[in-house]
Amino acid sequence: MENEDAIRFFIENPAPSTLSNVENKVKRFIDLQPEERNVVLVTSGGTLVPMEKNMVRYIDNFSAGNRGAASAEYFCKAGYAVIFLYRNYSLMPFVRHFEGPWTNLFTKRNVGSSSSWEIKDSLKDMLNSSLEDLEHMEKRSQLLCLPYTMLTEYLWYLKTIAEGLKCLRSRALFYLAAAVSDFHIPAQDMSEHKIQSGAGKDKLELSMRPVPKFLRYLVDSWAPEALIISFKLETDENILIQKARAALHRYNHQLVIANLLTTRKKSVAFVIPDSVMWLHLSEDDLKNGIEIEDYIVSQCIKLHKEKNLT
Ligand code: PMT
Repeated sequence: MENEDAIRFFIENPAPSTLSNVENKVKRFIDLQPEERNVVLVTSGGTLVPMEKNMVRYIDNFSAGNRGAASAEYFCKAGYAVIFLYRNYSLMPFVRHFEGPWTNLFTKRNVGSSSSWEIKDSLKDMLNSSLEDLEHMEKRSQLLCLPYTMLTEYLWYLKTIAEGLKCLRSRALFYLAAAVSDFHIPAQDMSEHKIQSGAGKDKLELSMRPVPKFLRYLVDSWAPEALIISFKLETDENILIQKARAALHRYNHQLVIANLLTTRKKSVAFVIPDSVMWLHLSEDDLKNGIEIEDYIVSQCIKLHKEKNLT
């Protein structure tokens, strides 16, 4: 049973016009999967909350999208089909190393009195092999990338994808690495036009309402048979594990992966009901280009197998 908060959220924030397109893509993608292939939804990036209906200003959640993009790659390589729900323009699997200012990719070569731009030699092989990987995954129907920007888009898509994955039962895995806004301005309270500054206004007061915790509905009604893994990001290490444990207890799902903003690329903690296991990359690992997502994804796949054996 869906809770009233969630129902109210979806009434107050109507579906984006793109929803039926997303629904069709998800359905087609799931239909293409062979019987034995597991499917993971990887969410990535941060959600955006507008301050005005004709949006000029907004509040954003931090995430570059590396965790999600790298993890999607490792899931693909391990044979999973991946639905990658990502913040538009954040990092994407297989091409994430080439995103950023285009000038980073090219070098200017001077020939006589003229000059031309060329891809840096050091990147050519990497670029070719990344494009080959991407093409390979697309041919095998192993990767579906769906962009979102707004919080409302993210939540409508999450619900729709979960409904689409329900038929796969325990073959589905949810890997929720996106940083989702905890507060928003409901559509009916939002200014139609750009909020004005000017004479007599010495402060701006905003009233925001909590976003319902959708993890609860995912676990209880949208995907009750799937393996659900959420992430917890904190900046204060003294509360990290306690907050991760609280989330696990509150939502009753299988695993919380806890990380601190400053060390998220080299340390994470796996928090399950009766234990905490830390994973740290050494300086040598980092120097050798080992990515923590490689280990995280292996652990998640192991847990998925174990859950499906019991
Ligand atoms: O992208 P990078 O720069 O590589 O960084 C990766 C990361 C630090 C963003 C990632 O590893 C991470 O920790 N992501 C989760 C951030 C976080 O704590 O999000 P949250 O507090 O908004 O949500 C915690 C969990 O609850 C999430 O799994 C989210 O899906 C869920 N949630 C959140 C809000 C809400 N209203 N409903 C939810 O279900």
